Amino acid sequence: MSLLEVTDLHVSYGDTDVLFGVDLTVNEGEIIAVVGSNGAGKTTLLRALACLEPVKSGTVRLDGADIANMPTHEAVEKGIVYVPEGRRLFPRLSIRTNLELGAFTQHARPHMEQTLDTIYTLFPILKQRENQLAGTLSGGEQQMCAIGRGLMSRPRLLMIDEVSLGLAPVIVSKVYEAIAEIRRLGTTVILVEQNVKIAFQAADRGIVINHGKVALEGPSSELKDNPEVKKAYLGM
Ligand SMILES: Nc1ncnc2c1ncn2[C@@H]1O[C@H](COP(=O)(O)OP(=O)(O)OP(=O)(O)O)[C@@H](O)[C@H]1O
Ligand SMILES: [Mg+2]
Repeated sequence: MSLLEVTDLHVSYGDTDVLFGVDLTVNEGEIIAVVGSNGAGKTTLLRALACLEPVKSGTVRLDGADIANMPTHEAVEKGIVYVPEGRRLFPRLSIRTNLELGAFTQHARPHMEQTLDTIYTLFPILKQRENQLAGTLSGGEQQMCAIGRGLMSRPRLLMIDEVSLGLAPVIVSKVYEAIAEIRRLGTTVILVEQNVKIAFQAADRGIVINHGKVALEGPSSELKDNPEVKKAYLGM
């Protein structure tokens, strides 16, 4: 069985339909990249999967059980977590407190110290700065802290929106090294990435969203050579 099975997903904001029947399968241990133009519906897709937006119709099965329209905290408890674009940390709280707040679920709380150690191994800078206020961090450190906070809930599926947005190339590499390690440690990852080249280097499979539908999907190694992808997203 797949970890996540999304079937015919429709999402709208009021009367405006935004996702029109998205199908997506994610296997345990995969890294999936979601790419597409501005406003295509990538964020909406991730938010709907995390039960942060209502699903109009369709199913979102995690381990076979439909989680669509479940309260968000229950979806987190089941193992699906969303790291938002723009990081959304509590700027006046320390790094450590921001991280601890991610461990609010019943199944995560007893393991908080151990998970924190894992995150500090992934991102040593967070350990060095654990008492610093999150608002004083660089963009890269904030992204690391936001990913760390997501991991504190010990998710099975970690979804990260706009991984590299606004980050210096050297930091982008560090964050992607950490994502590879997160997968190696057993967490499945869906990421949204503006930089299509980087996305398809990091991911096993990719999907291209266009106007609220899956326009293309396949192994990243094939998608990066797809003529439509090259023309639309890789400037070739
Ligand atoms: N809260 C909202 N209320 C109404 N419309 C929204 C809302 N959020 C997004 N939209 C609209 O839904 C569509 C999809 O937006 P979404 O943010 O999912 O796209 P995206 O692919 O993540 O874009 P970007 O690359 O700019 O992050 C867009 O037309 C957007 O204007
Ligand atoms: Mg977005």
